[in-house]
Amino acid sequence: MYDFSGQVVLVTGAASGIGRASAERFFAEGASVVLADRNLEGVQSVARELGQDERLHCLGFDAIDRASCIDMVNDALGHFGRLDVLCNIAGIAGGWRLEDMPPADWQRMIDINLNSLFHITQAAIPALVESRGNVINMSSASGKQGQPYGTCYCASKAGVIGFSKAVAAEFASRGVRSNAICPGGVKTPIYDNYTFPENAEMALIDRMRSLPGFGEAEVSDITAMILFLASSEARFVTGVAFDVDGGQLAL
Ligand SMILES: NC(=O)c1ccc[n+]([C@@H]2O[C@H](COP(=O)([O-])OP(=O)(O)OC[C@H]3O[C@@H](n4cnc5c(N)ncnc54)[C@H](O)[C@@H]3O)[C@@H](O)[C@H]2O)c1
Repeated sequence: MYDFSGQVVLVTGAASGIGRASAERFFAEGASVVLADRNLEGVQSVARELGQDERLHCLGFDAIDRASCIDMVNDALGHFGRLDVLCNIAGIAGGWRLEDMPPADWQRMIDINLNSLFHITQAAIPALVESRGNVINMSSASGKQGQPYGTCYCASKAGVIGFSKAVAAEFASRGVRSNAICPGGVKTPIYDNYTFPENAEMALIDRMRSLPGFGEAEVSDITAMILFLASSEARFVTGVAFDVDGGQLAL
């Protein structure tokens, strides 16, 4: 469907879920792919399943740590010598009552879901300017919608949208596009393992769960948008946060 041959795509969160499916799809469409994740064994296992091709390069890194993010990007650039598409997909989720959320958990989620995008994109941007490449950041419907017990997750994902738009504005004249994607609930470990706090108000949660499309997306619904945005078909699309949520945000 697309032809990414000759292009290098860096995918974070590539050991599982949306990141993994994206890495597999880019590989199938001809790209060389850097699979980066905290779970190094996980990305190595994905690469084995894809046939251990020379177009695959696995890297372990921890998005919570600036030096680790920068080393990861530099290793990717050193290995393939260029970068065309950066997909910031790694992330964590979880629900807390605002009154009870420990500051350390707040900081951890903001560091992984938002601050890592600054570290990784800052390290990658010279290569993206050179290739006139593009960035795709994984936000969420939670970045546009107030969700009960999601103060931190919603704040982190709203930050991802702002970051994506600002990068688009700053680099449009240098040929780099930047977009965000806002999935609703997608069937992956992050969604299946999501916990609400004890004594959560069920009426609030039921209201959210009753929204159209909630939790019904497959990873392929999200990768379809990722591949389109990364491709030259989207050459004039930048600074946009796309809802891929089956109508969750339409109501
Ligand atoms: N699944 C959903 O319902 C949903 C909805 C909206 C947005 N998202 C977002 O999509 C992205 C991918 O989530 P997913 O659904 O594929 O979940 P997932 O749990 O299947 O995958 C997340 C990946 O990120 C990696 N990761 C977590 N912390 C890391 C760290 N500190 N450093 C490096 N890697 C780390 C994990 O190892 C894992 O491989 C996340 O940013 C998530 O917030 C998911």
